[in-house]
Amino acid sequence: MEVIVAPHAGFCFGVERAVKIAREAPKPVATLGKLIHNPQVVEQLAREGIYPVASLEEVRHGRVIIRSHGAPPEVLARARELGLKIIDATCPYVARAQRLASTLAAKGYEVVIFGDPSHPEVQGLKGWARDKGVVVSSREEALSLPHRPKRALISQTTQPEEKLEEIAAILKEESGELRVYNTLCRTTHQRQKAALELALQVDVMVVVGGRESANTRHLVEICRSTGTPTYHIETAGELQSCWFKNARRVGITAGASTPAWIIEEVVVMLSEQEKKDIHQEGEEEQASALVSAEVEAPTSSDGGIESHPLPRLRRGKILSGVVVQITDNEVLVDIGGKGEGVIPLEELSHRKITDPREVVSVGDTIQVMVLRPEDEEGRPILSKRRADRIEAWNKLEEALANGTEVQGEVIEVVKGGLLVDVGVRGFVPASLLEMSYVPDLSPYVGKTLRLKVVELDRSKNKVILSHRAVLEEDLARQREATWASLEKGQVRKGIVRRLTNFGAFVDLGGVDGLLHISEISWGRIDHPGEALEENQEIEVVVLDVNREEGRISLGRKQLLPNPWDTAAERYPVGSIVQGKVLRLAPFGVFVEVEPGIEGLIHISQLADRHVERCEEVVQPGDVIPVKVLGVDPEAQRMSLSLRQALKEKSKRENRQPARREEEEETNSGATVTLGELFGDLLEETKEKL
Ligand code: F3S
Repeated sequence: MEVIVAPHAGFCFGVERAVKIAREAPKPVATLGKLIHNPQVVEQLAREGIYPVASLEEVRHGRVIIRSHGAPPEVLARARELGLKIIDATCPYVARAQRLASTLAAKGYEVVIFGDPSHPEVQGLKGWARDKGVVVSSREEALSLPHRPKRALISQTTQPEEKLEEIAAILKEESGELRVYNTLCRTTHQRQKAALELALQVDVMVVVGGRESANTRHLVEICRSTGTPTYHIETAGELQSCWFKNARRVGITAGASTPAWIIEEVVVMLSEQEKKDIHQEGEEEQASALVSAEVEAPTSSDGGIESHPLPRLRRGKILSGVVVQITDNEVLVDIGGKGEGVIPLEELSHRKITDPREVVSVGDTIQVMVLRPEDEEGRPILSKRRADRIEAWNKLEEALANGTEVQGEVIEVVKGGLLVDVGVRGFVPASLLEMSYVPDLSPYVGKTLRLKVVELDRSKNKVILSHRAVLEEDLARQREATWASLEKGQVRKGIVRRLTNFGAFVDLGGVDGLLHISEISWGRIDHPGEALEENQEIEVVVLDVNREEGRISLGRKQLLPNPWDTAAERYPVGSIVQGKVLRLAPFGVFVEVEPGIEGLIHISQLADRHVERCEEVVQPGDVIPVKVLGVDPEAQRMSLSLRQALKEKSKRENRQPARREEEEETNSGATVTLGELFGDLLEETKEKL
């Protein structure tokens, strides 16, 4: 089965220009109505921040694109009234017809517009003709028009030429003066002519394009008028193999709103279908002939292969070739027995490049798709971009099926996420980028991301990817490894993730453990923030692991010097030091003599008199002198006396100054005198007593 694509098929100049203008506009941007009559492209544009609105009042970002169909002057005036920036993508052919309508109306002509009254282009033309505009869509309507002395006829750009001529002939009868302007688009005429010629040569015609597209529907009508079975599809997914049973030649044409990639899909699907059919029938010889070639060599009358300098190639086939020469705007590729083909610059990569050397080097082996078996000079025209695209789709489908990763470079920030290059353009929604919200996506541009394929639709050119899914998998793996290696008593590094009133959560590698406030340091702290800060790396001891409940208890003070180990030497019995009152109990007062060392002053040791309640003598926060009565490092206990400390102070004060001096000298270093230590503070404490 031979697949032939009509020479003029797919995006017309005006639509291509409108899509380009939209893509180059600042995003997000609204289009007044769908930019083109193709749901797949409209959907793709929406993902890039180009969204359609039904009315100007719905425009949200201050910019509106007027699509290739154009708009009536009152719509443009309203947009200005609303303060919107107008980005005009009206097709130049349509703009010319609008100018004609306006000028003719100003000169007093009734302006008859031949076209579909519901089509936006026709509504726009009527607007430009102001109150002089009349729309006719058929010969019957033309016949019903009254006589006018001055009349002009223009047409919707996509109407068939012969119908315009017919309308002109009718109007001539009922007009004093009739001026006829051919405002038909040459592109449309070429496309329709090519479709007609192709339909006459093939067994089945496939017309690809949006169902809302008027020019696509005209193509369908034209092809059907030849008697050739004709099918109208929007995407390759709608193809049915039964349509092509016994067909030797299949023709493909496409409306002006159909992008090249949808046409490619159809060609490739038909070729794939053909291979499948052959395989199913078990005709292996025939299949291998097809697969290996991509070549349709003419046969001699006795069935042997004739020698031929450059056999015909099949459009849409994928070949392997070696780059043999590179110029500024094309690449020459040796495709073996099939000769040398040419890849034009724009067919090298789906990204914008200015030099072929950005993509290939001489000697590279690459995959190419045959676009045209031969150009005017007889050279095959090839595309690397399209072959890569098919390869990319295959890889993406495989990645989706197997759950494997792909890599993609971030090309651009668009509304709601990132565009990435994964061989085709893919979209990473902002919500699927990281584990948490990212306010500014611009630093990602140019970076290569590991990605998982979340959603694919080849027919809609839709590729949704997630970087977050990769991170989640990494985290799950890391968690598993951490749990498997955790043991009680281990010393591990971790990152402080969160501080709370009761402790800190420390990330040990995807798993958080709790470092209780009492385990942070030997000294008493009121909040973990006094000793730690978030994102700080620390060492911790694993105190307990509860796998069932997923809980891990950590300690940090165990890795710090324990002040109790040397407390007995540093605080000998009888020494006097200062301490801070931490809290009061009915039986006494807890005093901190240094961070991590607390002692108890029994209530009986607070004063020489009977003390009913501790607060009669001291308050939490007071700094007071205490005498060490005993130290038990094992039990981490120290007993202290305020009463005795003050008594000693008093005794010393009553001694001779010389003696005191001597004693103070003796005590310097080993034992500290109360006077040196506490000075006025001691006096204040005594006053309280
Ligand atoms: Fe313009 Fe013709 Fe296309 S009028 S929009 S180039 S079909």
